[in-house]
Amino acid sequence: MAPDDLVIGTAAAGGGHHLDAGYPDPFTHDKKYRKLLAAEFSSVSPENQMKWDFIHPERGVYNFAAADAIVDFAEANGQVVRGHTLLWHSQLPAWVHAIEDPAELRAVLKDHIETVVGRYAGRIQQWDVANEIFADEWDKGGLRLRDGSAEHAVNPFIEKLGPGIIADAFRWAHAADPQAKLFLNDYAVEDWNRKSTAYYDLAKQLLAQKVPLHGFAFQAHLDLQYPFPSTLRANMQRFDDLGLETAITELDVRFTLPANGVPTDAQLAQQAATYQGVLEACLAVEDCNSFTIWGFNDKYSWVPGFFSSQGAATVMWEDYERKPAYHALHETLAAAQD
Ligand code: G3I
Repeated sequence: MAPDDLVIGTAAAGGGHHLDAGYPDPFTHDKKYRKLLAAEFSSVSPENQMKWDFIHPERGVYNFAAADAIVDFAEANGQVVRGHTLLWHSQLPAWVHAIEDPAELRAVLKDHIETVVGRYAGRIQQWDVANEIFADEWDKGGLRLRDGSAEHAVNPFIEKLGPGIIADAFRWAHAADPQAKLFLNDYAVEDWNRKSTAYYDLAKQLLAQKVPLHGFAFQAHLDLQYPFPSTLRANMQRFDDLGLETAITELDVRFTLPANGVPTDAQLAQQAATYQGVLEACLAVEDCNSFTIWGFNDKYSWVPGFFSSQGAATVMWEDYERKPAYHALHETLAAAQD
């Protein structure tokens, strides 16, 4: 149903919270899951399988099997892949945190980017090169790069190598795969707010320095207890006006479940309207070419494990029955064809 210039993606479930969940790796073993993944989507994002702790768990040890399987699956099914992610503070193995010598750390990051991006060169449509590099306003110390200057979760590369490492990460990724579109990616940037403006200013600086930055991505982990990000479209447009692509990369819409655990019709309707609103914003912005949801089935969603009493954040129930949100996305794409 999607227009020719828009791919519709999902995270491919595996690694991360799935490792402790008591079911086998969803991407590998759930036949129904794989069938729907192949049939319903034109883009796939490894949920955890290209992150440092998964793909580079020990120094000199790369574990490519799961990422290879996803890229092969995508190609076999005519899908593109979003690479996720290279420069991130989270899911970074202890051996990386332990490196104190800046020259050594820089060499390790360069090798990682060259090795991982190089392995899949020509086969990845978009890479989240830098992920969540700003701390939030609500963190101690407030909105700033995760440079260790306050009590925020620290990105050790930015802390030990300085903010210039962001530009270098983009340069190394571009050299390793000149075809891939390279993105900044974060959450809580959907609205035109201080955090998205910090990214806007950073993007302008990087572009002025001729850094190969091609896009800005909005994760869009939304929660119905907060208002819909009504400035999303205008905010996306200002990045588009810089000449960047934009993308929705991790959309899900969580809410607090009633005591009986069953969402109300009103909750499901509000969730559907929220999914639809984000898709409409992307459709309205010329170079928003990629719209990805962070999983498509409640069984495998990361949400219940992170937010107690919240859930039902995806577009299908645990048994893959479609929710109103699924139909809202479908109808919105159909309407865009007219
Ligand atoms: O590393 C620890 C390990 O030491 C410990 O033994 C184990 C016990 O539970 O936990 C391990 O951490 C897990 C981690 O993945 C690494 O495997 C966490 O429990 C687990 O919750 C975590 O989940 C992933 C999460 O990223 C980590 O931030 C989720 O599967 C994944 O869906 C989620 O995805 C992120 C995007 O990449 C970036 N944007 C936000 C999004 C949602 O958090």
